[in-house]
Amino acid sequence: MSIQHQTTKLNIGLFGFGVVGESLYKVLEQTPTLHSQISKVCIKHPDKHRNAPPSLFTTDARLLLDDPEINVIVELIDDSDAAHTIVTQALSSRKAVISANKKLIAEHIEELIGLQKLYGVPFLYEAACCASIPVIRNLEEYYDNDLLQGISGIVNGSTNYILTKVFREKKTFSNALLEAQLEGFAESNPALDIEGTDAVNKLSILLAHAYGVIAHPQCLLHTGIQQLSAEDAVFAKEKGYEIKLVARAKKLQNGSIAAFVLPQFVSPEDQLYSVSNEYNGVVIESSLADKQFFYGKGAGGFPTASAVLSDLSALRYNYGYEYRKLAAGNPSAITTDFHLKVCISFKDLMQVPHDSFERIIEWSSKENRCHVTGIIHFTELVNSSWRKAPDVSIIVYPDGIVTNYTAEKTGAEQLDNKILLQFS
Ligand code: HSE
Repeated sequence: MSIQHQTTKLNIGLFGFGVVGESLYKVLEQTPTLHSQISKVCIKHPDKHRNAPPSLFTTDARLLLDDPEINVIVELIDDSDAAHTIVTQALSSRKAVISANKKLIAEHIEELIGLQKLYGVPFLYEAACCASIPVIRNLEEYYDNDLLQGISGIVNGSTNYILTKVFREKKTFSNALLEAQLEGFAESNPALDIEGTDAVNKLSILLAHAYGVIAHPQCLLHTGIQQLSAEDAVFAKEKGYEIKLVARAKKLQNGSIAAFVLPQFVSPEDQLYSVSNEYNGVVIESSLADKQFFYGKGAGGFPTASAVLSDLSALRYNYGYEYRKLAAGNPSAITTDFHLKVCISFKDLMQVPHDSFERIIEWSSKENRCHVTGIIHFTELVNSSWRKAPDVSIIVYPDGIVTNYTAEKTGAEQLDNKILLQFS
């Protein structure tokens, strides 16, 4: 048997020359074996100094989209509406497309899958989830079966960077955020990082490849790190935990999927405990292989460019996602019918009604901050108005997804009643 490689030469039209775009340019300069070249770069601000020949740049998108010699569009801008126009027009012009735009992909994945099918061109976006970690292609190819039981991931580098700096190095939240911005990890609007929007966009993309689930990010419960307090860090430390922002998807016994992004207590035994700064980590639970851990830089110019480079390399062999779990016609569905073991932390006793909990396990009050640990139905959490209050935080316990919960009449329940007297 002989193995022959038929490779396509790539002429790239690049949109955006920010941290990632410039890194990609530099990397391609040093990777002649890829036989790819950037023909033109479309930018928004022509007056900015760029570290590349001026003849490369234009502000006219049509020069890229209408050039028949350009067969790949790489979209690395951060305006997701403009990115939507670029990507859909490029696919309609039968050009292959690579994008790192999480928001665009998460919010329009159904349309983008349709365009790939209609025009028969690939759309790759490994850089959109966890930058340097090849998680999408792994879910797409290796986990093209029913083995996947769950995903737990630190998928936002900026919030992980901030939590590391604040909790381990005692920096202030605003200084840590500024550093994340200066390093080029944060979104132009850092609220997208801080409030968990970026992480839930990534979760939404992972769900499509892991389980064939198309879930608009707005339909997935998520909070960020903005509500966490210094007292929460002390509470976590006393219990031997750290707090991380974790994106979670878990297949329940009936085949439906629990999915959310929430702060989580992480114990030293958990692989995610060691994930610090801008690093990302993804633990994949498989029914045969137990746990697998993927670790790598999740933000920044070169780590993101490395994923784009890998997509470019795959395009030379005409690789495209097949969305097989979706195509199989029997995708899993998202459910809210499960319980969570959580710690709710708040300032004012009246903020969180105790009857939101199925069961209260532990209660403490220190320095004007209350921490209540209990079991709560996920639907109750989704529908509660109190969870959005600025000084209420929700932190999930390790293995906090509780299935088949039935209230047991145990000693613990007597404890509940005692606590309730104080708590009500
Ligand atoms: N702002 C994102 C993050 C960039 O911090 O993870 C990479 O997607």
